[in-house]
Amino acid sequence: MSRGFDKGLTSYGDEGFSRYLRRAFLASAGFDSEDLDRPVIGIADTSSDYTTCHRQMPELVEAVKRGVLEAGGLPMVFGTMSLPEILLNPTSMLFRNLDAMVTEELLRAQPMDAAVLVGGCDKTVPAQVMAAVSAGVPAISLVAGPMLTSSFQGQRLGACTDCRSMWARHRAGDLDDAQIAQVGTALATTAGTCMVMGTASTMACVVEAMGLALPGSATAPAPTGDRLRAGVAAGRAAVDLAQRGPVMRDLVNPDSLHNALVVLSAIGGSTNAVVHLLAIARRAGVALTLDDFAAVSRQVPVIADLKPAGTGYLEDLHRAGGVPALLGVLAEFLRTDAPVVEGGTMADRLAAGATPVPGTSTIRPLDDPVKPAGGLAVVRGTLAPDGAVIKVAAASPDLLQHEAQVVVFESPQDVAERIEDENLPIDADTILLMRNAGPVAAGMPEAGSFPIPRRLAAAGVTDMVRISDARMSGTAYGTVVLHVSPEAAAGGPLALVADGDRVRLDVPAGRLDLLVDDGELDRRRAEWTPPQRPDLGWRRLHHDHVHQAHLGADLDLWEES
Ligand code: FES
Repeated sequence: MSRGFDKGLTSYGDEGFSRYLRRAFLASAGFDSEDLDRPVIGIADTSSDYTTCHRQMPELVEAVKRGVLEAGGLPMVFGTMSLPEILLNPTSMLFRNLDAMVTEELLRAQPMDAAVLVGGCDKTVPAQVMAAVSAGVPAISLVAGPMLTSSFQGQRLGACTDCRSMWARHRAGDLDDAQIAQVGTALATTAGTCMVMGTASTMACVVEAMGLALPGSATAPAPTGDRLRAGVAAGRAAVDLAQRGPVMRDLVNPDSLHNALVVLSAIGGSTNAVVHLLAIARRAGVALTLDDFAAVSRQVPVIADLKPAGTGYLEDLHRAGGVPALLGVLAEFLRTDAPVVEGGTMADRLAAGATPVPGTSTIRPLDDPVKPAGGLAVVRGTLAPDGAVIKVAAASPDLLQHEAQVVVFESPQDVAERIEDENLPIDADTILLMRNAGPVAAGMPEAGSFPIPRRLAAAGVTDMVRISDARMSGTAYGTVVLHVSPEAAAGGPLALVADGDRVRLDVPAGRLDLLVDDGELDRRRAEWTPPQRPDLGWRRLHHDHVHQAHLGADLDLWEES
């Protein structure tokens, strides 16, 4: 079997010529035969000026290259699509599948024996894992690492749970313009990904728990030596992987996905991980469902004391021993046969015996959790026949069973334009419902935790039931029902709700129901028309092929037709 630069020759109809030409052009970059006979390690680099979370990635990539060279490999860095969460319109999620396609084809089309996937900011890590699973290459995931915290008037701050709570205080009149501007310079002060248990941190921890990244690599802060050493170690490990396999698809199996769900529950992780893990599982041919998430969540308590469910930040988790120590506490829930990227199984990782560092409290014992089991729940019913999710760990307990009239917003834009309209019949009990923000309609923006009307916030209302087909940032909180499936744009019942209808949310019973009789719904359905299809390009391809949220919102192009 061909290896290194002899793999995947460019098609000129003459293999000898293709090989000769390839080496000639590589010689122009200074490579000689001693270089070219080494295992080739592709390093997928998601550095971009737009992706501020990755601004120290060039230094991390240099560390990976050093590890590759030390182990006798040849590092080949290539730029891939980068997804700056805060700078993409309308939402980075619209481009996760595009990023996965681009990365997959680069992994497959370029000659390499193994790859290091360097990602971090929200959608980059799931996109890279989806890509590697489909491309069939040996690959190891390496994240950029979280930011370090800062402070404002003595209060510790971090992106982006505090971004939201401080903004809510500003909306309620508690922080003036000058103060909120000052806060804005203290929320994100170093390189790295958001340092609460948002989507980036969640995916970093979950990918390590799945065995796709080296032990201890998820939590090392971006500006630290620990992070650079994680890079060197990933480079060395990739050379070993190049010689021994397995491909990433071999590592994504029911056992490793189960371990992912255990850790997702224990960290009070982002609901976005539900969509990403469903997509990764489908690419690997594993039948994972929303019910699997709910079942594991019912058993595993939240034991990582991290915002938004708790109080700490990722640097605290790292100091407490990181994911290895977390896994040590969770050992009874884990499937120890799950394979891991450095060789061996989860049992070998547990045998290393990591436990929470004495004197730290970020990783709590199972009998003294931050939240009891059930941090993530799935609800179904006449409003969400295929399911919806709610992060119970970040919700208000008194709103988990709630029935009220709804006020309907047609889109995130409609919320922005009308949420402060004092003529809307909204009080603290009202259920706020937003539609046309699902995968088909809008690429599923993180618009689900939309704001409480200012007049209610000023009167002390801190939470209301909000329901939508959108997602929510992992850094957000509130009694927010998300990923309603089927979405409105796909003709789900969400499309048929009218102002004044009653909706009943009953999380303990796993129900979300629209209390309108079938005859009335049939009448409304006959009048419903789907939103306009995008004209051209990627957005049309995405619109026509994206799955619903309960299937992971991946494109249907990876399935036999
Ligand atoms: Fe990049 Fe939060 S904006 S991880």
